[in-house]
Amino acid sequence: MIDLFPITAPLLFRFDPETAHGLTIKALKTGLVPAPRGRDEPSLRSRVWGLDFTNPVGLAAGFDKNAEVVDAMLRLGFGFVEPGSVTPRPQPGNPRPRLFRLVEQGAVINRMGFNNQGLDAFAERLERRRDNPRRAAGIVGANLGKNKDTVDAADDYVIGARRLAPLADYLVVNVSSPNTPGLRALQGRAPLRELLGRVLDARAACKLARNPPLLLKIAPDLTAEDKADIAAVALESGIDGLIVSNTTIARPAEIPEPLRAEAGGLSGRPLFGPSTAVLKEIYGLTGGKLPLVGAGGIASGADAYAKIRAGASLVQFYSAMVYGGPALVHRIRDELAGLLRRDGFESVAEAVGADHR
Ligand SMILES: Cc1cc2nc3c(=O)[nH]c(=O)nc-3n(C[C@H](O)[C@H](O)[C@H](O)COP(=O)(O)O)c2cc1C
Repeated sequence: MIDLFPITAPLLFRFDPETAHGLTIKALKTGLVPAPRGRDEPSLRSRVWGLDFTNPVGLAAGFDKNAEVVDAMLRLGFGFVEPGSVTPRPQPGNPRPRLFRLVEQGAVINRMGFNNQGLDAFAERLERRRDNPRRAAGIVGANLGKNKDTVDAADDYVIGARRLAPLADYLVVNVSSPNTPGLRALQGRAPLRELLGRVLDARAACKLARNPPLLLKIAPDLTAEDKADIAAVALESGIDGLIVSNTTIARPAEIPEPLRAEAGGLSGRPLFGPSTAVLKEIYGLTGGKLPLVGAGGIASGADAYAKIRAGASLVQFYSAMVYGGPALVHRIRDELAGLLRRDGFESVAEAVGADHR
């Protein structure tokens, strides 16, 4: 594909990261970004939860918080996209600056705090898309968050699930962002059981011909007890899968001052090792019974392949795009196909969890 990123990157990097992101979304919305999908190798076709993915490489939540560029991102070659996190009411998020580049580390720190236009704007865009015969093919999830000032968190996820279950191919309960006070405490055994039970009831109450799969997105910063609890609750509750993982509050040694002192979640290259280790552990704890989505630090086909071998049926990335541009999705996808072929796998499904065998 024609890759304009080498030309636009120096310009974008002259802006602060949030302004650069806003300009990127604007450019994508014009529909003028050249976007030949290229060819998805047949080995990349994946059927998960009864959904057909042309390739297993997705766009992680947080890039398109308001579902503004779903089709543009699918046209760039992603097998699936996950707009959000969306909260029931619009909210401004934390004060700026709240997004930081760590160029040498290939990393990002963010404390956005679920800035978004709210559920109505989000749902209306997905409705318009549903009614548009020229929409791009591909799987579109919806990532649900809670408003900062909502006391009973489950209420917000129920509101989101009710509204979006008829519009999204899958739903994500995100209880792992580090930038909403109290959110990650919902990963504990008792609150998680109640939360997932209520969201599953809300989904059932929609009486859809086909329920969208419900996934839980977890943090990488969990104790052994947390992980065992999450795996047990995930299996007994009847949810459909897990996304592993969100950003980390840890600051590995390679993160220099003064940025290491910035509050927020760290993503990108330094997250690859820790998030892949958690993914592998969760695959072991769930016995391979639940499809997992691997996220955290993916920047190459080899990274995506390592997540799949550790137990992921699908993968997602975001931060690497800041440094590699949107054409990176082609590289990751094509390199992944090459690695599957090298190791004699005819499909992604055959390679899932290979490191456990
Ligand atoms: C700027 C930014 C905003 C994000 N916002 C969200 C969000 O709203 N909801 C969510 O579930 N994850 C969010 N994430 C986390 C990503 O979806 C992903 O889980 C994480 O960044 C790890 O992947 P990566 O290393 O490829 O970026 C955000 C990440 C970044 C960098």
